[in-house]
Amino acid sequence: MKEKIEALRLQIEEAMQNASTGRALYELKMRFQTELKGIMSGMKDLPKEERPAFGKIVNECKQAMEEKFAEQEVVVRQKEMEQKYASERIDISMPGKSRKQGALHPITLVKNELISIFSGMGFTVFEGPEIETDYYNFTALNTPKDHPARDMQDTFYLAENLLLRTQTSAGQIRVMEKQKPPIKILSPGRVFRSDDDATHSPMFHQMEGLVVDKGITLCDLQGMLAEFARKVFTSSTKVRLRPSYFPFTEPSVEVDLSCTECGGKGCRLCKGTGWIEVLGAGMVNRHVLENCGVDPDEYSGFAFGMGIERIAMLKYGINNIKTLFENDTRFLEQFEN
Ligand code: DAH
Repeated sequence: MKEKIEALRLQIEEAMQNASTGRALYELKMRFQTELKGIMSGMKDLPKEERPAFGKIVNECKQAMEEKFAEQEVVVRQKEMEQKYASERIDISMPGKSRKQGALHPITLVKNELISIFSGMGFTVFEGPEIETDYYNFTALNTPKDHPARDMQDTFYLAENLLLRTQTSAGQIRVMEKQKPPIKILSPGRVFRSDDDATHSPMFHQMEGLVVDKGITLCDLQGMLAEFARKVFTSSTKVRLRPSYFPFTEPSVEVDLSCTECGGKGCRLCKGTGWIEVLGAGMVNRHVLENCGVDPDEYSGFAFGMGIERIAMLKYGINNIKTLFENDTRFLEQFEN
């Protein structure tokens, strides 16, 4: 029996030298325990007086082997860690994959700036749908089916009475139908027209403004636009109103700014006139107020609509509207905020 234990011990100790992984070492430990148990089961066949001495030998062997296993475990674990570090080594001198951070598009920058300026004057934002009915886009805006002013805006029709809105003015009607005066809203959004050249795109952005209250006059419009021009451009930018025509305003005006390039002296951009046309506006036509259930004898209002691309092009000196939609990052990068 004693020899058997000794033999097992030698065998396991030798095998331990070759157990190079934690797993192998664990399996060896299990084998040792099983085989030791097997030897111990023969204890019952020994004469009674020999049993304590044999038990002592077994215990000593067990303890000694446990210590050996523990020592070997430390060695193996250390080796395994070293191997893991070596295989997962990272070459920190290699160039990384850099990802560029995005930035707001110039149209968004200008839109946000306009909203910020007008909300400082008490305006709130209303966003209407891009697919509109003929009624909201034209008829309610005093532009019935056979009205010649419809030709001013080449329209994409989706169905007989359904179209892609050609102007954010449609939002005026939606607001006035829902809300009683006083009204002071700004309506930004995309609009669509079958139009395509260096200064026109079939999709572009507009910013509509509408104020309806008692005693609103053209002077209020002029004052607010002057403030807008000074804030978006420079403190010396001037505003000029010129008579014009829109079916939904009476009187209607075209709004010019003193040239953003030459300051009014006359240059190529303003074609020598010193003025640049930027938006349409006017006093809300009484028929439009009536269409929305607002009494034109009690209330009056003004409205304006501007192209956001137009403002962005003037502000940043862009001469082709297409560059705003090509999404060439070399162009867009210049506006990083
Ligand atoms: N909707 C007009 C356009 O797209 C712009 C406009 C003119 C809007 C006069 C208005 C306005 O609100 O009063 O050409």
